[in-house]
Amino acid sequence: MKVTVVGAGNVGATCADVIARKELCNEVVLLDIKPNFAEGKALDIWQTSPIDLYDTRITGSTDDYSKTAGSDVVVITSGLPRKPGMSRDDLISTNAAIVKGVTENIIKYSPNAIFVIVSNPLDVMTYCAYLTAKVDSKRVFGMAGILDTARYRAFLATALNCSPKDIQAVLMGGHGDTMVPLPRYTTVGGIPVTELIGKAELDAIVDRTKKGGGEIVNLLGTSAWYAPGAAAAQMVEAIVRDQKRIFPVCAWLQGEYGLKDVYLGVPAKLGKKGIEEIIELKLNADEMQLVKDSAKAVKEVMDVLDGMNATA
Ligand code: LAC
Repeated sequence: MKVTVVGAGNVGATCADVIARKELCNEVVLLDIKPNFAEGKALDIWQTSPIDLYDTRITGSTDDYSKTAGSDVVVITSGLPRKPGMSRDDLISTNAAIVKGVTENIIKYSPNAIFVIVSNPLDVMTYCAYLTAKVDSKRVFGMAGILDTARYRAFLATALNCSPKDIQAVLMGGHGDTMVPLPRYTTVGGIPVTELIGKAELDAIVDRTKKGGGEIVNLLGTSAWYAPGAAAAQMVEAIVRDQKRIFPVCAWLQGEYGLKDVYLGVPAKLGKKGIEEIIELKLNADEMQLVKDSAKAVKEVMDVLDGMNATA
């Protein structure tokens, strides 16, 4: 098994580090456009192998896609991160050009790869990779829901003073302020969360989750990387180990939830073929409305991308 991570910035390097440490594959290639950067990061990560005792080989490359040839899974993290005051959507024109170029190069050398997109604005960059790769949408999807539910679960673990291991949750919608955490589908050790926490406190946690990425941008001056990198690595794990895990995944919808031709976060089963099933929850009217509103917001940014492609 071979995994390529494109973009050796904070998210990409963290993702590669987690993949290597967990020995998810034999070989990880980290690629970046900045001269020597991926080589340096890969060498530093590889030098942790005798300490942490793993043997996944990790190498770096400056923009030489021949080194990525034959990858089974490719994680694309390339693009600019947010600065304080920016929304993820502000990144669209710069990052779309980058994601398009990366996808063209990857598909040339790894025609059978499964693509996990991490670049922002996430849902629209996943769409951009899908348009460029021209492969089955089951092989092109985005990482956001694992990160967003991880934030939600971490906040709940703090509030309830319990182990995050016991918190299960579903979250739908786009990776932005319109995301839809679903308290009705949130349990703690099998107990519905609504039995353990008051409405006002839960509402505040839902609200904080929606703005979770921005909270970190404001603290650090750039976007998060530990949780995004680990979340992308968890998707890689589900694929390479054919785990059939169910996660919120940014997937291409073709009628599910009454939505069509939009990339949106939905619960999906991940295995060696990529998305093996999209799960349709029986949402109530309020939840469905929130998901529809989120799809509309994503679609507006997808239309901006379509407009850019039409004039390109
Ligand atoms: C975040 C960025 C990575 O949510 O989108 O932290």
